[in-house]
Amino acid sequence: MKTASVAGGGLVLSSGMLKAAGASGKKLNVAMVGVGAEGRVLLQSLLKLPNLNFVAICDIWKSYAQRYAIAMVKKTLKQDAKGYEDYKLLIKNHAKDLDAVFIATPDCWHAPMTVDFLEAGVNVYCEKMMSDTLEGARKMVLAARKSGKLLQIGHQRKSNPRYIYAREKLLRGASICGNIMACNGQWNRAVSFDLQPPKNQKYTMSTEELNKYGYKNMHQFLNWRWYKGFGGGAISDLGAHQIDIFGWMLGARPSRVMASGSRDYYKKPDGSPAHDWDDNVMCIFEFDKTFQGKKAQVFYQVLTTTSAGGGYFESFMGDQGTLKMSENPALIKLFRENNAPKWDTLIEEGVIGGSDASGASVKIADSRESAALVSYNFPDKIPGVVVIGKDKDGNTVEKPIHMYHLENFLGAVRGENKLNCDAEHAYEAEAAVFKAREAIENGPLTFEESDFVVS
Ligand SMILES: NC(=O)c1ccc[n+]([C@@H]2O[C@H](COP(=O)([O-])OP(=O)(O)OC[C@H]3O[C@@H](n4cnc5c(N)ncnc54)[C@H](O)[C@@H]3O)[C@@H](O)[C@H]2O)c1
Repeated sequence: MKTASVAGGGLVLSSGMLKAAGASGKKLNVAMVGVGAEGRVLLQSLLKLPNLNFVAICDIWKSYAQRYAIAMVKKTLKQDAKGYEDYKLLIKNHAKDLDAVFIATPDCWHAPMTVDFLEAGVNVYCEKMMSDTLEGARKMVLAARKSGKLLQIGHQRKSNPRYIYAREKLLRGASICGNIMACNGQWNRAVSFDLQPPKNQKYTMSTEELNKYGYKNMHQFLNWRWYKGFGGGAISDLGAHQIDIFGWMLGARPSRVMASGSRDYYKKPDGSPAHDWDDNVMCIFEFDKTFQGKKAQVFYQVLTTTSAGGGYFESFMGDQGTLKMSENPALIKLFRENNAPKWDTLIEEGVIGGSDASGASVKIADSRESAALVSYNFPDKIPGVVVIGKDKDGNTVEKPIHMYHLENFLGAVRGENKLNCDAEHAYEAEAAVFKAREAIENGPLTFEESDFVVS
């Protein structure tokens, strides 16, 4: 099987390929706030969805991010989105006609912006983390409740058809792993140094402009995720997605957490740590009662000093098999324990795909060692996965991974479906991430049920 690739920004979609989604829906007036790296990823998907009218684009980086996004809207849809630097002015001028806003600013801005848009009667899609503070996240949940408007948080795996298939059909329906006793996951990234301001002076923001929005200088503005008061470091930036998935897949909230972090790699010239948050974090979450009524331990690591160990994934390891999930379809695998019942019927029924031809080739070196496991694939067809064309090498290309989550949100705005990741549920992952970070400082910590609920 040729592994399908997922459409990136560069792919030009043929007309009609995305007609199904939203084609019948009413035209929605939308705006975007924050069109940096992630905002542009969202924009590229949104521009391919039907029936959207881009009313405004807000970004304080006028000469670069804002200009680019407005030009993209013009070039692709021939629409004239109005540019804003101050989101409050956007609300003042457009809130009454806006159906939805997409927020992809640094985490510290999520809570004030989301609360203001909700209070002005606008449905909000806000990127994760909900906020750089738990108090900010709480305010977002309360504002969504009070306003009765929709608030979707950008944990896009929750709308990814492969993740939904894994959760419903494999872990629950076919109980493919048997008893899930342990999980592990990681997001390991190669060394990368701080982003540098653009060389071309015309793209540099003045200190005065930056100060107005709370940033000390260009360096802090570009590398906000590493600094207290702006973001939460790698464990929140990358880990939040995956910690959210463990709770969702296991159908439970964690009971305890222990964690260790280090700031020993990225240094200032004087030898002190370059960042406020840890370079690397390892943590263990203990779950007392999963959807199977069992205990499970989850080991998770986020490392920014090595890309070893196969990138990013979440594995669910049971006594009969293991499911390894990733946003990258090429990394998804199933492994059957050698002493578990055969999967022939599941293969015949198309619940899983075939095994990898090479099978397990590693010979055991010691009689106490278990034999290596053969790996299996997902079936070729997963309900909901949409192939949108072929790339120049003939590989099938699927919808971009964020598009499913955006469509889910837009469907909810049109009254066609429920949100896949509302603020109340996203808050549970938020609470888990904050406590993991606290455990780095204070040692093992216990969760109370009240930690996960905003009252
Ligand atoms: N869902 C995902 O897979 C995913 C991936 C990456 C980032 N994110 C999230 O998206 C958000 C943005 O991350 P990014 O990597 O794009 O950051 P970024 O720094 O590349 O972009 C942030 C943008 O926000 C603008 N901005 C900053 N303060 C503003 C303000 N007060 N008003 C208006 N605009 C403002 C900046 O000028 C910039 O263009 C973060 O919350 C991040 O966690 C999500």
